[in-house]
Amino acid sequence: MKKGIFITFEGGEGAGKSTHIRFAASYFRRKGRKVLLVREPGSTPIGEQIRNVLLHPKNKAMSVGTELFLYLAARAELVKEVIEPALKKGWVVISDRFEDSTIVYQGYAGGIPVSEVKKTAKQARGNLVPRLTFLLDLNVKKGLGRSGRSDRMEKKSLAFHGRIRSGYLALARQNPKRFAVISSAASKSEVQKKIKARLDHVFS
Ligand code: TMP
Repeated sequence: MKKGIFITFEGGEGAGKSTHIRFAASYFRRKGRKVLLVREPGSTPIGEQIRNVLLHPKNKAMSVGTELFLYLAARAELVKEVIEPALKKGWVVISDRFEDSTIVYQGYAGGIPVSEVKKTAKQARGNLVPRLTFLLDLNVKKGLGRSGRSDRMEKKSLAFHGRIRSGYLALARQNPKRFAVISSAASKSEVQKKIKARLDHVFS
């Protein structure tokens, strides 16, 4: 049996994660692999309920500590109930966001000390670490313009979203082997060419 592979996609708002995740999924399916797509927070019955609490505009006043624990609760459920069992069966699991989102949104941008977020977040994922993380990097204004959403997280200030971008780039510098940083300002086909090259390099 093939070994399971865990890949994550990260990025600020409007970076085009969904399109490129579908592309990566078809890359592996063409190779005959079973692929499971998940998103964070969510992808379990409990996780989707937590997602509604987190993203609902009426919960605008939520403290960042509450956010942290809700994201981690959704992740603990997803890792144990969905991701680990799929990896055990030899599947490729691709997640739209994972722990880097927490470190960046609640740590670098949200103001909880990054070292504390890392320590607490580890409890939710256990020993699971992505084999490869694509960071789709995009200018903040462009990203917010593209995303067209108006939920609780997107309503935060431009400065907050700037800290998200620089936080991600800092994480990528700290973990150069795991991260592939790709500018999503380029055309869709250019971005996908780069994703394919990286996948070929790591998984050929
Ligand atoms: P998305 O489905 O558009 O990626 O939305 C999820 C939102 O939740 C997005 O604004 C990022 C945010 N988020 C965090 O703040 N912390 C986390 O740990 C995760 C997974 C997401």
